[in-house]
Amino acid sequence: MGSIAIIGAQWGDEGKGKIVHLLTENADVICRYQGGNNAGHTVVAGGKKYVLHLIPSGILKEGKICIIGNGLVVNPYALQDEIDLLKTLGIECGSRLFISDRASLIMPYHIELDHAYEESLGIGTTKRGIGPAYSYKYARMGLRPCDLEEEDYVKTTVGTVLDEVNATLVNRFGRNPLDLSRVLEDIRAYRDILKPFVTDTSLLLNRCINEGKNVIFEGAQGILLDIDFGTYPYVTSSNPSTGGICTGLGISPKSIGRVLGVLKAYTTRVGEGPFPTELEDKTGEFIRKKGGEFGASTGRPRRCGWFDAVAARHALRTAGIEELAMTKLDVLDGLEKIRVCTQYQVDGQRTDEFPANVAVLARVEPVYEEHEGWDNLGGVKNYKDLSKSAHRYIDRIEDLLGVRVAIVSTGSDEKETIQRTNLWD
Ligand code: GDP
Ligand code: IMO
Ligand code: MG
Repeated sequence: MGSIAIIGAQWGDEGKGKIVHLLTENADVICRYQGGNNAGHTVVAGGKKYVLHLIPSGILKEGKICIIGNGLVVNPYALQDEIDLLKTLGIECGSRLFISDRASLIMPYHIELDHAYEESLGIGTTKRGIGPAYSYKYARMGLRPCDLEEEDYVKTTVGTVLDEVNATLVNRFGRNPLDLSRVLEDIRAYRDILKPFVTDTSLLLNRCINEGKNVIFEGAQGILLDIDFGTYPYVTSSNPSTGGICTGLGISPKSIGRVLGVLKAYTTRVGEGPFPTELEDKTGEFIRKKGGEFGASTGRPRRCGWFDAVAARHALRTAGIEELAMTKLDVLDGLEKIRVCTQYQVDGQRTDEFPANVAVLARVEPVYEEHEGWDNLGGVKNYKDLSKSAHRYIDRIEDLLGVRVAIVSTGSDEKETIQRTNLWD
């Protein structure tokens, strides 16, 4: 049996979808363990582009079992849209998609609250109801797929919760209250959508693991958006980090094999919050344009900047990442000089550590070193065919992070990849 966790090691959008798809070839089961449809995972294969939000990217390969674990927040309407879209592309989810009976449901009022809070907090969320759905889960005011057949339970629970929600919407935000009967209608629709897919996924996954099946744990977002280790409060509301795998799927830590971090050769971020190596100049614009750096979920322009080894080291350590996939090296093609942040200067001192507080992070000055640029890396498939300057860049990043780059990605297509190690060995 083998398993690989594929985890974003920056602020999301590192190219996890591509790497998951690549490694799915030898996998039997692909699981999401946290997040929701705030994710946008792009796969380019056979000349077509697919963007997955909630369903694991493994669904694109025939016959693979896909699991949406208990650690996710699920919007059944978004799920239905995704299933329908896949169907038009000739991909059936039917008998191989499973959703945990213990996942949390995103209710219409969570989305309303996300919009309302966003006006005052300005986190730059995806407005998909993710934060409120997790908040209500932890406040023990959530609903789960396993509740949906219990009509009395649903009615009582939602009645109580809606009192809370409406008090906030009306008194705090001056918005309209939500109507109980409308919400109950949505819940009936939710039940019908989810019914064919709901099961005890912990039971199913443990059985697969015991049978020796190969499993991929597909992280969403990235460690710098982790609720505990990210740039709080400018984070998402779940644990993309490795710890989220056990709690989000109901499996033993012993079932987690290799932990592969995915990093871009530079850095991007969507939404608000400090970003020490951000480039608000022509180079940033060049990277955004060349890298197509616009959100796969919301279409927002992504903020772009140089590679940040301080942030990456923090991500690797807190998530226990032991190997890396470096994506989008080709995007830096044509730049004369490429910079890497090796340390921060803050309040008159140099540091190797990533500050916990965002006000401190907002005043750090990156300490840079400069590297020779390269050209024509797009689509290169053999490591030896990369230029010397690209080799030096990768070597230096391995050196700074103390972790080997096992996969180098040189284009969005699955074929545009260099695999230096067979991760399934
Ligand atoms: P994810 O959320 O981590 O799955 O990443 P996204 O799909 O949101 O964003 C990554 C974007 O980069 C997608 O448009 C991918 O098709 C694209 N991509 C992935 N790897 C490469 C690469 O090596 N080179 C280029 N040029 N694009 C890539
Ligand atoms: P993938 O899986 C990049 C960001 C949002 C916002 C913050 C909180 O494609 O890498 P939320 O809606 O989660 O409460 O928003 O997190 N964010 C992402 N940024 N990639 C993602 O997912 C993201 N999912 C959430 O932009 O800053
Ligand atoms: Mg994305």
